[in-house]
Amino acid sequence: MLRCIIVGYGFLGKRLARLLASGAIGDIKLVGVASSKGYIYKEYGLMPGDLPDDLRFLSILKPSPASELIDKRITDLLVELTPTNIRDGEPGLTHIRLALEQGIDVVTANKGPIALAYEELMGLAEKSGAMLLHEATVGGGIPLISLKNRCLAADELLSIKGILNGTTNYILSRMHFEEMTLELALREAQMLGIAERDPTLDLEGVDTALKLVILANSLMNAGKRLSDVKIMGITRITSEAIAAAKGSGMTIKLIGIADEEGLRVAPKLVRLNDPICVHGTLNAVSFNFRILGRLTIIGEGAGESTVSALLNDIYEVVKARSRSNRI
Ligand SMILES: NC(=O)c1ccc[n+]([C@@H]2O[C@H](COP(=O)([O-])OP(=O)(O)OC[C@H]3O[C@@H](n4cnc5c(N)ncnc54)[C@H](OP(=O)(O)O)[C@@H]3O)[C@@H](O)[C@H]2O)c1
Repeated sequence: MLRCIIVGYGFLGKRLARLLASGAIGDIKLVGVASSKGYIYKEYGLMPGDLPDDLRFLSILKPSPASELIDKRITDLLVELTPTNIRDGEPGLTHIRLALEQGIDVVTANKGPIALAYEELMGLAEKSGAMLLHEATVGGGIPLISLKNRCLAADELLSIKGILNGTTNYILSRMHFEEMTLELALREAQMLGIAERDPTLDLEGVDTALKLVILANSLMNAGKRLSDVKIMGITRITSEAIAAAKGSGMTIKLIGIADEEGLRVAPKLVRLNDPICVHGTLNAVSFNFRILGRLTIIGEGAGESTVSALLNDIYEVVKARSRSNRI
């Protein structure tokens, strides 16, 4: 049995914890869960009944930092699900470093550490023989990273072009189909829980840029930083600009591009019949491979579907460790 801990017990952490505690993946035993208030730990495994919405009222809650749980040497796999911080990647970066240094495998959805310190973290993983998997950082449940690494590993990825942010795509879609202003579409998205109360990172294109850096570095060995991306968001897109695009069989989408010219994020005119022209909260990514040519993949880029990406990465770790007889 691989002993697993989850650090970050919010939207994703709760859903994943309950699935693992109910035995969603054989050979995984969930032994610990941490939030910002502290952690719970049971050597013989947590059961679904041990996992209420709020950990604070549990008598077994230890009000200590998650690093103490990681450092206990009772875990084989860390699932890191604390909030994305684009300034310094913390607290996730420290959690992931700590685990990899001890040879603990890591699965994460946290974009901060992967976008800011990919090379360093991969170096640590290589040194200690640990695995670091991060499918869930980009495109929710859409298997973008495993698609390239498992199905198309022998082909060369030449460029990436896509819609990587569901919030801005929802807003632009409402502006296109309902002729709403950006402000009104944003307010609607916030009421529906699609946009954060502070939507700056989404609207200004920074979330798309983070995801583009992660894809370019992990799939194209691009060695890029967030500061290398030319970023323009959608804040200046008007209803009139969308109406004019619509009149010529096009619309405006926030597009991230990684190719030989570098990385950039900007609102672009897109033909309505282009495969990446998806609407609502959907994401769409077009890969251009040297031999295969263009391949477009579409799906929900966030929310519940992200749990599927986490489960698949965890399953990959279990498979690899059972092959190397570490289970
Ligand atoms: N939600 C999605 O659809 C989605 C999709 C792709 C990627 N992601 C990424 O996945 C990560 C998790 O997302 P989420 O939506 O589950 O976030 P969330 O609901 O905000 O939950 C974050 C959790 O992290 C905990 N936390 C904060 N600081 C901590 C610390 N120092 N030590 C331990 N725990 C700490 C919080 O504790 P408290 O409960 O005590 O506040 C909370 O339980 C984020 O990085 C996000 O960007 C999310």
